[in-house]
Amino acid sequence: MTAVSQIDSRGKLRHLLTTEGLGAELITDILDIADSFLPEDNQPPKKVPLLRGTTVVNLFFEPSTRTRTTFELAAKRLSADVLNMQMEHSSKNKGEDDLDTLFTLQAMGADVFVIRHPENGAAAYFAEHAAKHVAILNAGDGSHAHPTQALLDCFTIRRHKQKFAGLAVAIVGDVRHSRVAHSNIHALKALGVTDIRIIAPPPLMLEDPVGMGITPCNNLAEGIDGADVVMGLRLQHERMHHERLPSVAEYHRDFGLTPATLKNLKPDAIIMHPGPINRGVEIDPEVAYGPQSVILEQVRNGIAIRMAVMAMIAGAGNRAA
Ligand code: CP
Repeated sequence: MTAVSQIDSRGKLRHLLTTEGLGAELITDILDIADSFLPEDNQPPKKVPLLRGTTVVNLFFEPSTRTRTTFELAAKRLSADVLNMQMEHSSKNKGEDDLDTLFTLQAMGADVFVIRHPENGAAAYFAEHAAKHVAILNAGDGSHAHPTQALLDCFTIRRHKQKFAGLAVAIVGDVRHSRVAHSNIHALKALGVTDIRIIAPPPLMLEDPVGMGITPCNNLAEGIDGADVVMGLRLQHERMHHERLPSVAEYHRDFGLTPATLKNLKPDAIIMHPGPINRGVEIDPEVAYGPQSVILEQVRNGIAIRMAVMAMIAGAGNRAA
């Protein structure tokens, strides 16, 4: 999938396209840098001058609430200049090609592009064609990858569990179409999680979970038994092609995270969801905002993780390379 390398010849992060192949050391470095940005009182990160003079462009060809705004906040807290493209009002509507949009913004002096796109592999495609000094950060490409979401998820898990080895992580829902799940599986495996369970009805299951070292399960109670982390996922209707799904009521009954379905969950298990949630489908509000939920912490941690990734990439001398 990835035609360009996201790691340079010195082993440094050049772009961030996927968590696949990142390795435990590099992921741990990112989590450690993110930790350094979080004040001890759990307030949002303070402003630092690390990226003064750098221009970050948010180029989102798909909707976003969390990722776009936390990238903007992260860039601003690093003192970068930030340009938020409104693609629905852009010259794309007059037929401009996506690459010509990239070249046009590069000509204005952009250094970092944060790109969300419906096509698998789009971030790698932009990285292949970008100027040498430019870094591409994948903010979600089709069902392929959402690396900063996985990194903030791992960061949130580490802050609660202080370790990865020995954890049981249950991912529930539409794993097949989920870039979040794919990126989390690569990152969690790299960090040493060996017990990853996927709980989904057959049309939403991964094609070859066993080949990936994942345990497939189509029973929620069995799948979450003894789990330390339960991660719910939204049904990605925008990426489905006439899958034969259960009705919403059946899906909610069998795979929804509800007070009833989670009644035997370990008391110290954490409940995660990348958002946006669909209330009453894959999760109930009592669970999403209940005592075991860390969903809003995930959102807040997204700022520190995105600061860490941008500091690592744009501050690591790439612009001089
Ligand atoms: N988790 C996530 O990517 O959310 P947004 O689509 O709101 O950015």
